[in-house]
Amino acid sequence: MKCLILTGSRNPDGQTARIAAAVGEGLASAAADAETVYLPESDLQCCRQCDAEGWGPCRSEGRCIIEDDFASLVAKLRDCDACVFATPVYFGSLSESMRAFLDRLRRITRHETGKAGVTGKPAVAVCVAGGGGGGAPQCAQHMEQTLGQAGLDVVDVLPARRQNLTMKLDVARTVGRWLAGGPSS
Ligand SMILES: Cc1cc2nc3c(=O)[nH]c(=O)nc-3n(C[C@H](O)[C@H](O)[C@H](O)COP(=O)(O)O)c2cc1C
Repeated sequence: MKCLILTGSRNPDGQTARIAAAVGEGLASAAADAETVYLPESDLQCCRQCDAEGWGPCRSEGRCIIEDDFASLVAKLRDCDACVFATPVYFGSLSESMRAFLDRLRRITRHETGKAGVTGKPAVAVCVAGGGGGGAPQCAQHMEQTLGQAGLDVVDVLPARRQNLTMKLDVARTVGRWLAGGPSS
């Protein structure tokens, strides 16, 4: 079983990374492989809303016109059995890199070609409010909505805040182990 962990923080020692690593530990404990990608290190531009109606080849062909790392990240997503989207909470919502990726993913999955290997794939969302600690539930709601719009099967959403991070690390390990077992929706 292969899992892709996409994180919307650039800090490999940060709070989002700690939770993502705990999910990875849970996956590994159940003999699943996990690859982690730090989205801010990728070249990920924001959607150009190509035509006058705000659409482009995303809707007509299931692909994005922008030549950056998006297509290779989608290929990784297609290639895995399950995925984890871990974002730091920024302004009560997704980080900019996570937003840039998911905004484009939900567009290409309007088309049959774009849906391939994405629709119905088990996905877990993790939202880490590492500042004052507010906004994780709201971010979790945004993540569930956005991942669902991309056609993913959102099997769990894990909000965390700086003040409960240690406790949530245990939950994250459990989630990883459970995800490796192939949760039914
Ligand atoms: C632009 C910006 C907005 C933020 N908004 C929030 C917020 O709404 N709530 C919160 O608790 N922390 C907020 N933070 C703090 C981040 O959640 C915190 O830096 C993050 O959890 C750190 O994650 P990391 O260590 O993985 O980078 C914000 C940080 C930035 C840079």
